[in-house]
Amino acid sequence: MNQINRIDQIYCPTKVFFGPGSIDNLKEVKKTYKNIFILCDKAIPRETTGKIKDLLADSVESFVTYDLDSEPTATGLNRFLRKKTGLTDCVLGIGGGSILDSAKVLAIREGNIEDFNEDSEALPIITIPTTAGTGAELTKSAIVKSGDIKRGIRSEKLFPALAIVDPALCDSLPLELTKYTSFDALTHAVETYFSKRSNPLTRAISQLSLSIVLQYLPIAMKEFKENGKPTLQTRKELSYAAMLQGFTLSNASTCLPHRIQYALSTVSDAGHSAGLACVYRAWLNMAKPKIGNCDYKQIIKFMDTIGIYITLSDIGINKENIEKIVRRLDGSLDADPSFKDLSQVKKILEESL
Ligand SMILES: [Fe+2]
Repeated sequence: MNQINRIDQIYCPTKVFFGPGSIDNLKEVKKTYKNIFILCDKAIPRETTGKIKDLLADSVESFVTYDLDSEPTATGLNRFLRKKTGLTDCVLGIGGGSILDSAKVLAIREGNIEDFNEDSEALPIITIPTTAGTGAELTKSAIVKSGDIKRGIRSEKLFPALAIVDPALCDSLPLELTKYTSFDALTHAVETYFSKRSNPLTRAISQLSLSIVLQYLPIAMKEFKENGKPTLQTRKELSYAAMLQGFTLSNASTCLPHRIQYALSTVSDAGHSAGLACVYRAWLNMAKPKIGNCDYKQIIKFMDTIGIYITLSDIGINKENIEKIVRRLDGSLDADPSFKDLSQVKKILEESL
């Protein structure tokens, strides 16, 4: 079979430092940027924030924390946008996917998110993930809540200039968060492989990433049980799998579960991974994806093994919400090869209650 006819474009302009201790590369950053606006997850340990401040020293212009339960809000981000100065020359985000998304938004030149458009310019962005799941460290998009509406902010200008993926920063991540963020990485691998927009390169990466999560998430859970936390090697594997998916998210696409999760999160405050987990079994049974040699039934069995059983009812969604969720679906549904019409989505939601 001719392998390369389906590759039109590959783009990943982000420089990546990867590995335990890679945070030390921030020393180099201060040679380039002199007024860095840092957005930090409120839950980051003081030891880590202290180290970042030390490494960047005089190049720190502002250091603000954002207390986020789920997606960033337009109101919250506009407040931070106004804190930037004319001198700000870089925006650095340290935290989970929502914080990294927020940092991308804060890099835009406009004073309000609502003014962002396809011609908008952005300051250089640095991402430092402290979870392993979203792949946001390498992507060009951010999801922002504005009242009942969720908006995807996307632009090649929002590709981070630099990502520092230091698995040691995930050291204090609790078991449930480790499990659900890794599950997000797994869904990216499954969906970007299955997507109509995949190509031989992204599929190879998705397959590798999936095999790492399938092998190392159970190991991480065992290590939590036996030693209280996973080893650094296990964290490294899971961070690597998640980061690889940042590349495939930018160069392929996710499928129906991600479209549905965005819509259902307008009626529930549950996090991204939890929303995905609610609908995943029903979607797998409908779409029947095969990722290399891995059958969809193996993914369902894996969810059973790691104990992911959450339903829509668990996150406060009932039958009455379904029509509203279907109406709020957005984005390219047809990247999913199994998508035919909206009645399928309704069925997935009904089966996930
Ligand atoms: Fe995701």
